[in-house]
Amino acid sequence: MCGIVGYIGNNAVEEILLSGLKNLEYRGYDSAGIALNDNQGIDVFRAKGKLNNLAEVLNFKHLETKHISQGIGHIRWATHGKATIENAHPHLSNDGKLVLVHNGIIENYKELKDELISQGFHFFSQTDTEAIVHLIDREYKKTFSLEQAVIKAIAMLKGAFALCIMHHNEPDKIIAVRKNAPLIIGLGKNENFIASDIPALVGKTQKIIHLDDNELAIVKKDKVIVKNFKGEVLNKAEENIQIAQDDITKQGYKHFMLKEICEQPQIIHKMLAEHIEMPEQPIHFDNINMTDLMEGVEKIEIVACGTSLNAAQIAQYMMEDLTGISVTIEPASEYIYKRHLTNNKTLSIGISQSGETADTITALKQAKANGAKILVITNRPDSSIVRYAHYVLPLNAGIEVSVAATKSYTAQLTMLCLLSLAMAENKQNMERQKILSIKQELLTLPIKMEEVLSSQREIKKCAEKYNKYKNFIYLARGINIATAQEGALKLKEISYINANSYVAGELKHGPIALLDSNMPILAIFSQNSKTYEKMLSNCEEAKARQAHLIALTNSSIENRKGFFDDMIIVPELSELLSPLLFALPIQLFAYYFADSLNLDVDQPRNLAKSVTVE
Ligand code: G6P
Repeated sequence: MCGIVGYIGNNAVEEILLSGLKNLEYRGYDSAGIALNDNQGIDVFRAKGKLNNLAEVLNFKHLETKHISQGIGHIRWATHGKATIENAHPHLSNDGKLVLVHNGIIENYKELKDELISQGFHFFSQTDTEAIVHLIDREYKKTFSLEQAVIKAIAMLKGAFALCIMHHNEPDKIIAVRKNAPLIIGLGKNENFIASDIPALVGKTQKIIHLDDNELAIVKKDKVIVKNFKGEVLNKAEENIQIAQDDITKQGYKHFMLKEICEQPQIIHKMLAEHIEMPEQPIHFDNINMTDLMEGVEKIEIVACGTSLNAAQIAQYMMEDLTGISVTIEPASEYIYKRHLTNNKTLSIGISQSGETADTITALKQAKANGAKILVITNRPDSSIVRYAHYVLPLNAGIEVSVAATKSYTAQLTMLCLLSLAMAENKQNMERQKILSIKQELLTLPIKMEEVLSSQREIKKCAEKYNKYKNFIYLARGINIATAQEGALKLKEISYINANSYVAGELKHGPIALLDSNMPILAIFSQNSKTYEKMLSNCEEAKARQAHLIALTNSSIENRKGFFDDMIIVPELSELLSPLLFALPIQLFAYYFADSLNLDVDQPRNLAKSVTVE
């Protein structure tokens, strides 16, 4: 959510900022802007909408970048103030000498703004960010030191902020500040970088320093000094990053989303090979001893948001079924506002693809304060969330660029399934043979995923057939209720269709009133489920109300072919594991639906991949 870049060095500043922002576009695309500091002053260029619009503005200006050795850039996901040029970052001080970009939310900006206006500062935007600029500027006019002014000003800010700040009078430095919003420093030779996330640095450097909360960095061309908010120098470790350019290119696919959908069999194959060395042996995780993890655990709670929350709901079924331990799930944004019985007998699991979701981090912090053991499942073991974890399970699904989560979802489900099995092995309350047969079935998943991908033309045809509808219902029961939720979420996110999911048994208690010939239904069910017959009855009820019916099932129920308008059939898999396979058709259906409407699949309106504000 909002992306920041900064550069100081002798190479082409404008190009470095733009390529960095391009790789951060998944964080927002309401507006983009850069500020360049040269001998004559600070120039700010901003444009509404995507980065391409900014690139056009810059082309038009025919910039001469050779005297510029310092710049900052931003892409915005609007919180305070509409997506307009006035609200786009960077924001300038009234004398035009101080400029900054911000990711986060300043909670006390209104009070600060009133105070600053009464002192004669002029505001030109509706953002919370502009208050920070004028505040630092005010302090600068007292201290004539950018560092001192920043330290004084940030002590007055409440909320979350990652900042990059430049002053025309101090062209030897950029100051980077972090509190509850991610920021890293990239280390180069006679040049240094600042970024919200690693993809911005790919191809530029492999060495980074992670800033922690309440830290700031004075970034010069030839050195980086990290301090705490009191101004005391800190010793920070350098780390190596391992993201290749290939990981963040489409590699011939039309969209990142399709590329990421197609990567799933390979990712899952790798995960299974890593954790199941021999099916007869216990599942193995590097750095986690299951006895240690489960010791004293009487209750499990899972917090997550969005797609990760749907994965959590499936995990609840798996864990309760395989371990007999009670599992609760909670949208992370609700967690801290509810009374919880979390204590030192609780295992709190946080699931987050990005590892930067503010709500999930806040929930885990509270669970930790209540004495819980914290386990984090993330695709980004270098992210902020791991700093609050006692245990971490990395997904290693590779960078996910498309805003709609796909490969990270099936990687989460696979990891949660492995974890549930490992818990069952540790508890020894389940027959070994039963665990063994689930593991053996799990190992067939990648090949079955390949089969689904090879039938994607039929899914495409089906999606195109239904793309004229403006509403959609997804129905399921049991463990696949969350699959229906994820299917509806995917369709909503990228095609803006009003897609909703219902527990099939609940249809007759209200939602059935919505049904007529304009309401297609996608019914998800396993043949080998306890509720198979019941599910078919629910479909009959819908059919009687003229709803169009699509079945997504793993059974080849020939005699039903005339009953359903369309059928998407996937290979057989037990009900417990079926969500891992059903995930692919629901992703492909949403993808082809949106693509056939010529929508911006990878960057759908209003969304951001990493939501770093609560
Ligand atoms: C955003 C994204 C969703 C994602 C959710 C949780 O809303 O648009 O796709 O599922 O955040 O993200 P996380 O990184 O915590 O899994």
